[in-house]
Amino acid sequence: LSIGAQHRTGYHFQPPKNWINDPNGPMYYNGIYHFFYQYNPKGSVWGNIVWAHSVSKDLINWEAVEHAIYPSKPFDKYGCWSGSATVVPGKGPIILYTGVKDEAQNQVQCYAVPEDPKDPYLRKWVKPDNLNPILVPDKEVNGSAFRDPTTAWWSKDGHWRILVGSRRKERGVAYLYRSKDFKTWVRAKHPLHSKGDTGMWECPDFYPVPLKNNLGLDSVVDGKQVKFVLKNSLDLTRYDYYTIGSYDKDKYVPDNTSEDGWGGLRYDYGNFYASKSFFDPSKKRRVIWGWANESDTTDDDVLKGWAGIQAIPRTVWLDPNGRQLLQWPVEELDSLRGKEVNMKSQKLEKGVNVEVKGITAAQADVEVKFSFSSLDKAEPYDPKWVHAQDACDHKGSKEQGGVGPFGLLTLATEKLEEFTPVFFRIFKDQNKHVILMCSDARSSSLKSKLYKPAFAGFVDLDLTTNKKISLRSLIDHSVVESFGEGGKTNILSRVYPQLAVASQAHLFVFNNGTEPITVENLKAWNMKSANIK
Ligand code: FRU
Repeated sequence: LSIGAQHRTGYHFQPPKNWINDPNGPMYYNGIYHFFYQYNPKGSVWGNIVWAHSVSKDLINWEAVEHAIYPSKPFDKYGCWSGSATVVPGKGPIILYTGVKDEAQNQVQCYAVPEDPKDPYLRKWVKPDNLNPILVPDKEVNGSAFRDPTTAWWSKDGHWRILVGSRRKERGVAYLYRSKDFKTWVRAKHPLHSKGDTGMWECPDFYPVPLKNNLGLDSVVDGKQVKFVLKNSLDLTRYDYYTIGSYDKDKYVPDNTSEDGWGGLRYDYGNFYASKSFFDPSKKRRVIWGWANESDTTDDDVLKGWAGIQAIPRTVWLDPNGRQLLQWPVEELDSLRGKEVNMKSQKLEKGVNVEVKGITAAQADVEVKFSFSSLDKAEPYDPKWVHAQDACDHKGSKEQGGVGPFGLLTLATEKLEEFTPVFFRIFKDQNKHVILMCSDARSSSLKSKLYKPAFAGFVDLDLTTNKKISLRSLIDHSVVESFGEGGKTNILSRVYPQLAVASQAHLFVFNNGTEPITVENLKAWNMKSANIK
């Protein structure tokens, strides 16, 4: 095998070679899904950025077409950076992207449209000279931190609106622009939102979610039964944070149910960045894409000849509790499920691992529901653990607990020289319980010089009446992408096992707490490889 071949994914999106980063301009148009992404045609480190382009009928199997947007004009000579597509009713798609025009990385927003809107694959894109660049920073805007335009939304006042990510000193900013004709854009006096000490806001995303159902809504803002989501990718921490709030008259006000900033809600508590959503009118859902970077060294990436994958596209909607979003892999992923194995009513006493046999554990999909009968043995939560990750650092899968740790050991060798545990652990904190979910890469590989974090998030769930919690993990050679309790808390880990590869990879359920745990029901599937040409 060539270096890194055993770590290439079978069903997570990745091109045959080279560097990829942010998802760009996802959209559904005339029966076809379009997916663009930041791509270096010349190597496996970041640079020479173009928009690569793939098309699909199901969001899972993809065909690459020629690069859609690449440096060809003075205003994008140094790179065609991230942006979004808007399908304008009666007109067709328009892409807005960031052009980098000089070595100082001054940024402007640019406009591109399909050369032939009747080509089903929209292979060729043009940048009209009379319009470009369509939006340049004014004196008050930091021109080297001014990028990643959102999909536009139309309002009844006859204006299109977009956001552009930026910062003012250390304050993260989402500038708001409006336009009557999509061509002349005027900056609103106040940003849609900003927040001190959060640094550059990359790849902002802003969209409505219905209060009463799990359908998606187009970016067009209408009706009262909606909440709004503002997501920003924080350059300083490399996580995607969001708040839920209300939006009216050019102002977004986050609800006070979560923190607006570093300690706030994340789409994913692992490796998932620069995400972008789109509305899929064919299934009336909102779908998000996110980029999962490598966590090996740059030298390894050069040797491998590739770097970066995309997470499985996720349907996103508002949790009925109104405080957070829920995410779940798009249903089309299930078409790759092959042979299924089951486990039912399996009791797990303290210290027990039970192997899930008969599947290709290096490329699998696992859904499991755990139950237990009492919370009495829950350990106290140490207030010194400010972030979930602090708790997971101290209380890993090998530290015996009270209620938990219990969960899955993924990408494991038979004798557990290597394994990536994905698990829950329940603590007592004054009058309430704290549910920790971890995806811990520390034991994932015998190889050193890898970034092996103990990623973790809390699960907002009341276990007092119903003592059940569920987990789904998508295991794919160098990625374990997990969804806790129906997508309340999600964690994607990139891991590089040296031994637990191909047929040497195993899957176990485990419990390392004194409270016995029952695997009520587990289903695991071999996953076929997606057809990604
Ligand atoms: C986020 C980002 C964007 C930028 C692009 C460049 O990962 O830095 O802000 O547009 O990547 O590739």
